[in-house]
Amino acid sequence: MMGYSNIKTPIIIVNFKTYAEATGEKAVKLAEMAEKASVETGVCIGVSPQFVDIYKIARRVSIPVFSQHIDPIEYGSFTGHVLPESVKEAGAVGTLINHSERRLKLADIDAAIRRAREVGLISVVCTNNTPVSASAAALKPNMIAVEPPELIGTGIPVSKAKPEVVTSTVEAVKRINPEVIVLCGAGITNGDDVSAAIRLGTEGILVASGVVKAKDPYKVMVDFAEAALKA
Ligand code: G3P
Repeated sequence: MMGYSNIKTPIIIVNFKTYAEATGEKAVKLAEMAEKASVETGVCIGVSPQFVDIYKIARRVSIPVFSQHIDPIEYGSFTGHVLPESVKEAGAVGTLINHSERRLKLADIDAAIRRAREVGLISVVCTNNTPVSASAAALKPNMIAVEPPELIGTGIPVSKAKPEVVTSTVEAVKRINPEVIVLCGAGITNGDDVSAAIRLGTEGILVASGVVKAKDPYKVMVDFAEAALKA
C-alpha cells in the first residue's frame, strides 16, 4: 500500500480485543509470535492490541500495530477520549474503526477516517453487512473488514457459512472504490477458512479468538499465512 512500507497483501490482522490471553505482557508475547510467523512465511501479520499495550508492543516488534479504535477528536479538551495523534506517536501504523464491539455513527466513522488520514494512520473500517460496507467504501478508508456479528467468536467461519456476504461485499466495495482493500472476519479458525476467504476475493482476514484462544497461536498464525499464500 502506498506510503505504508510494511503493509502488503495478503494481510492477517489479529485483534487482541480485551482477552486475558492478549493483555499486558501476554500481549507482547503474542505480538512476538505474530512477528515470528510473519518472518517465517513472508506474509504480513498485523496485531491490534489494547491502547495501553500499543507503545510496548510497537517498540518490541516490527510488524504493523493497529489501534482498536480512535475518536475523531483533536488536541484539546477531550478527557477520556482516544486522540489519533497519541495512537500514532505510540507506534501504531493504523487503526480499526467501527468494530462491532465499538460501533460508531456514520458521521463519526467518516470523521474518524478523515482524522486517520490526516495523521497518517491506515484506516480499517469494520462493517456488519454488504450495504454498510458499500456506505463505508464511499468514505474512502484504506481497508474494510466485513464481519457478520452473529458469527464473531463462534468458530463458524464467515467464509464458509456466509460466502455470499463476502463476495457481495467485495463486489460492492470495488465498484464504489477499487482502491479499498477488503478483508473478512468472524469465526475464522483454520487455514481452510483463510484460503476460502481469499478465494472469495478478499485480500486478507481479521481474526481474534481463532488465534488468541488457540493452544498454539504461533502455529495457527503460520497455518493461516501459508493458507493465504496457497489460496
Ligand atoms: O475483529 C475480529 C473479530 O471480531 C472476529 O472475532 O473471534 O470470530 O475471530 P473471531
